[in-house]
Amino acid sequence: MRILSGIQPSGRLHVGNYFGMMEPSIELQDHGEAFYFIADYHSLTTVHDPNQLRENVRDVAIDFLACGLDPEKAIFFRQSDVPEVTELSWLLSTVTPMGFLNRCHSFKDKTDRGFEASHGLFAYPVLMASDILIYDSNIVPVGDDQKQHLEVTRDIATKFNNLYGDVFVIPEPKIRKEKAKVPGIDGQKMSKSYGNIIEIFGAEKKIRKKIMSIITDSTPVEDPKDPNQSIIIDLFNLVGSTEDVEVMKSDFLKGGIGYGDFKKRLFEGFWDYFQPMRQKRDELSEDLNYVDNVLKGGAEKAREAAKLTLKRARKACGIE
Ligand code: ADP
Ligand code: TRP
Repeated sequence: MRILSGIQPSGRLHVGNYFGMMEPSIELQDHGEAFYFIADYHSLTTVHDPNQLRENVRDVAIDFLACGLDPEKAIFFRQSDVPEVTELSWLLSTVTPMGFLNRCHSFKDKTDRGFEASHGLFAYPVLMASDILIYDSNIVPVGDDQKQHLEVTRDIATKFNNLYGDVFVIPEPKIRKEKAKVPGIDGQKMSKSYGNIIEIFGAEKKIRKKIMSIITDSTPVEDPKDPNQSIIIDLFNLVGSTEDVEVMKSDFLKGGIGYGDFKKRLFEGFWDYFQPMRQKRDELSEDLNYVDNVLKGGAEKAREAAKLTLKRARKACGIE
């Protein structure tokens, strides 16, 4: 079984990225042949500062390794180190009806937020389909917001297969039920574009400040509070032990404790949860050669697999 996922290097990784995409990917690396990559071609649709892009790629590489991606088990690489993916993207685009792309909400979301309506941004889902199809991926672990891109990928693959024969494996998305939509400090989906994120590896002071600024209702300290309507509980559920979560819930119901205290507990839970990963991150930051070599070695392996699929696709459509 082939497992594949990618993440864009377009900013600091946050708790939503971790629980929606990174943790499930890391869990799956023991259950098949895993391919995980840093989607730098995709980031070019929104990041136009070359130094920033280079820095982001390195940061994502370190972060993902620190969180537990094991290069002995998973092939970890940078998207652009496998340029075959852009050629396949072109082949796919020639069979992709405009309608498939018109229905994708990510283009509208991004242009509404001020990003230029470039062709690259519009064609983003075709490149993503290429990423997935070129590695004959069976399973793609992602957060809830990538569901539509997976549907488009399946539609493009089916269209190509119907036209040219059985070239591509049809992939299945793997979206968690409970953690696929982590809320940000304002209760909306956590996303770097909403300014509501909690960074995985942010400085202690900054994280504490973020957590202390989680939006709550105005229930007075002495009154009972609703644990079912609380961002604090939702986030604590991700990082706290079952017992600690139960205690917090019952303290909510009891009354007499203010939201500030609960936020402090959440901060402690968060800080402890990511402590081993922070330590690993510090070590990796001291050994950038190792990180670069992991990506280089990963790219060589990924490229071998990609070449085979590209050849099949080229033959099928008459380029070879
Ligand atoms: P952002 O919304 O911050 O730009 P990305 O689009 O780069 O995040 O997402 C990278 C991966 O992390 C995707 O698989 C996405 O589904 C997942 N992800 C992002 N935000 C969340 C969230 N709030 N909850 C769960 N998964 C998320
Ligand atoms: N679009 C994904 C995101 O924004 C990143 C991505 C690019 C990806 N190619 C992929 C995810 C292929 C899974 C599979 O998060």
